[in-house]
Amino acid sequence: MSHLIAPSLLAADFGNLERDVRMVEKSEADWHHIDVMDGMFVPNISFGMPVIEAIGRHAQKPMDVHLMIEAPDRYISRFADLGASVLTVHVEACRHLHRTLYAIREAGMRPGVALNPHTSLSSIEEVLSDLDLVCIMSVNPGFGGQKFIPSTFDKVRRLVALRSAQSADFLIEIDGGVGESNAGQLLDAGADVLVAGSSVFRSPNPTEAVARLKHHARQNA
Ligand code: DX5
Ligand code: ZN
Repeated sequence: MSHLIAPSLLAADFGNLERDVRMVEKSEADWHHIDVMDGMFVPNISFGMPVIEAIGRHAQKPMDVHLMIEAPDRYISRFADLGASVLTVHVEACRHLHRTLYAIREAGMRPGVALNPHTSLSSIEEVLSDLDLVCIMSVNPGFGGQKFIPSTFDKVRRLVALRSAQSADFLIEIDGGVGESNAGQLLDAGADVLVAGSSVFRSPNPTEAVARLKHHARQNA
């Protein structure tokens, strides 16, 4: 399978959101990555339901919703109604992760779990077969435009090994500071989905920036 590209709309121009959603639609991107922040789990507030509804009006491609919120169970059915395809919760924000993942699937979405840079892979070892996606945070969540944390490469390699040891079948997504400088190495390590905010939307030509990430070869392929 070729890897997937998910531009993060957090880096879009919110005054021209329709234009930027349409750019993602026309580009070679696979998903819209949508970051929801509550000012509690992370020290920042991004946007909520009305904005996602507006995005959904112009989005045909799947919406990959990344919840950086406390107690996400409260809103699972709301995100299903908004048309989310993938719903990712943070392991650090879930007291009953297994129940949460089942509730997401029950609501008709693909369950994902995100891990902060300090969080060990062992925290999700018991639920790997219940997951459609694992999001490895390569920055501390809360803001776009941060510097990529290099220990991510090794974490991805270890997750690939765990996945095959358990014969599990989830996608490995990398989120934070991803761009052309590290895409090849990430794909090499085993990444399946690259989230890219600043490196796409701050580029002089976002459509081409997406295409370059999409056509990045695994370096050792
Ligand atoms: C960070 C968000 C990311 C962010 C990535 O908390 O989860 O999705 O938008 O932005 P860049 O690519 O600029 O690091
Ligand atoms: Zn994100």
